[in-house]
Amino acid sequence: MTNTMERIARLKREQDAVVAAHTYQSPAVQAVADLLGDSFALARKAAETDAAAVYMCGVRFMAEGVKILCPEKRVVLAEPAADCPMARQIDPKRVEEFRAAHPEAAVVAYINTTAELKAVADVCVTSSSAVRIVRSLPQRRVLFIPDQHLGGYVRSQVPEKEILTWDGYCPVHHGITAGDVRAAKAAHPDAAVAIHPECPAEAVALADVVGSTAAIIDFIRDFMHSTDRPVIVATERGVADRLSLDYPGRLFQLRPEQLTCPDMKLTTPDSVLAAMEGRGGEEIVMDPALMEAARASLTNMIRLGG
Ligand code: 13P
Ligand code: SF4
Repeated sequence: MTNTMERIARLKREQDAVVAAHTYQSPAVQAVADLLGDSFALARKAAETDAAAVYMCGVRFMAEGVKILCPEKRVVLAEPAADCPMARQIDPKRVEEFRAAHPEAAVVAYINTTAELKAVADVCVTSSSAVRIVRSLPQRRVLFIPDQHLGGYVRSQVPEKEILTWDGYCPVHHGITAGDVRAAKAAHPDAAVAIHPECPAEAVALADVVGSTAAIIDFIRDFMHSTDRPVIVATERGVADRLSLDYPGRLFQLRPEQLTCPDMKLTTPDSVLAAMEGRGGEEIVMDPALMEAARASLTNMIRLGG
């Protein structure tokens, strides 16, 4: 154990704290995490933990989500500059206008949104729960914000609903093309392709498996044990960077320079330590009325998401 890891472990005990990390974090940050997972697992695990403090290694909406679900906890975003650009790609006023014009419709917000957007939505979803949750809604018409690609993927899986999408996107996954997937398949003809639904539909159509970060990890683990074939990984490189340690030479990262989220990579073990020592990080403080308004859509997500 490094000196930094030892100091983090001691501070966790002293502060009754846990470190939560998204799977897009670097292997070094994942190594100091107590709670690890995709967006859905992190929200649920952080809501369930008894710890008094949560240090979030991810992006701002993830720390805000924990604070909204557990206002009594001290929640610290380890790297204050880490933000998801997709989270503010729609103005809440536009959602209110839509609601006024379509009172019969449900508003579904990807969890990658600000608290202000969660507050005007009926339910949040993550990439692992979006299809299940949208299918379970009583409303036939749905506005899905802000990711056009995840919204379009849900539309393809839930044809019985009328799903309107916003034009937002993740700048990391949006850059993946069908040509990228074809080129990777040509270079590794025996490989399966696992892709995240934040990628454009023409790339998704060429994949063998479409899933959230957690679903891609589960698929790779099963596949590695049942075949000798490799996998082309078409999501942020944190997934393949971590799994390559377990399956050396069998994972091919699609376009690693594109599939690197700069915000997710801001956090390091040193920034976690600085946050725990009070030299860095940002304690999440939010308006109680805003938190209350946003809470219902997150608790609906956990209830309906399974
Ligand atoms: P998931 O964790 O739901 O796969 O989402 C990916 C992502 O981009 C998180 O910001
Ligand atoms: Fe946002 Fe995309 Fe980075 Fe996820 S990978 S935090 S959606 S920019």
